[in-house]
Amino acid sequence: MLPNVLQTSADHVPVLADEVRELLAVSPGETVVDATFGAGGHSRLLAGDLGGRGRLIAIDRDPAARTFFDRFKATAGGIQARFLRGEFSLVLNQLAANDVQADAILLDLGVSSMQLDRPERGFSYAADAPLDMRMDTSADLSARELVNEAEERELALIFKRFGEERYARPIARAIVKRRDERPYERTSDLADTIKQAIPTPARFGDGHPAKRVFQALRIAVNDELGAVEAALPAAMRMLRPGGRIAVISFHSLEDRIVKQFIREQARGCTCPPEFPICVCGNEPVLRDLTRKPLRPSAREVELNPRAASAKLRAAVKVGD
Ligand SMILES: C[S@@+](CC[C@H](N)C(=O)[O-])C[C@H]1O[C@@H](n2cnc3c(N)ncnc32)[C@H](O)[C@@H]1O
Repeated sequence: MLPNVLQTSADHVPVLADEVRELLAVSPGETVVDATFGAGGHSRLLAGDLGGRGRLIAIDRDPAARTFFDRFKATAGGIQARFLRGEFSLVLNQLAANDVQADAILLDLGVSSMQLDRPERGFSYAADAPLDMRMDTSADLSARELVNEAEERELALIFKRFGEERYARPIARAIVKRRDERPYERTSDLADTIKQAIPTPARFGDGHPAKRVFQALRIAVNDELGAVEAALPAAMRMLRPGGRIAVISFHSLEDRIVKQFIREQARGCTCPPEFPICVCGNEPVLRDLTRKPLRPSAREVELNPRAASAKLRAAVKVGD
């Protein structure tokens, strides 16, 4: 195991950092893609592994990440570093279309500490702010539109599916009733409605009563699952044979997408199980490096409680 380097940035503690470095096994001179740059916590470590030679391509759809990138670049030594703002699946596809190949790709999914900790971004139920939750601040759909315009049934489905919220239906009903009188503008208004819609005994324990609904709205606003589904094949197009991909997810639905993708790519054959022999001729494209996802240690969770639900999977592209 590589030395523990959790505290690399004053702004953000990269999750499962030692494990990511070990699995991506970056060597000097390689090309690394950090598709979720955030505050650059992982990039700083992976850039260190490039040993002053090579290239790091940073992607993030949040324009605020550029400030962190500029800071990162100023201390990145002799490596080439570039920031591309955009949705990672689109950027990865564009890079592949331009014959840019990667030796290592990292996707550290979800929101960054900076997004959560800036109340004005509207991600947090803990601070009063405009209802927003867009990672890409130029995107059309914000939480405000979704909460004020989606049908009750759709809201309930979002809360159930992306938040596993037990009281999804009464909460959706309460939201629609209240917005008919006065549309939602602020996070605190929404958090209050959610709290009131949950039976009193259920309001206590398992975190803030609005936690699951806020998470669900964030996933829906940013189409987080659709983005992962599109990004994995795009990353495959960019990876060189022998190249490594690592994905950190924070939600069981995300992890399922990653698990199934790696499994299918590692199996190769797509013939139905009842076929006695393979007729499709498909060869495995990936070798799974983590049959079971890696989880943060108790010590890491103690230092960084946001790491608690993280799961890391990785694979290597087969070939010469
Ligand atoms: C968990 S943070 C990454 C933190 C980073 N690894 C670090 O150590 O600082 C996730 C970042 O990915 C970005 N992001 C999430 N989904 C994205 C997508 N579909 N396309 C581009 N960026 C995305 C978010 O804006 C956020 O900055």
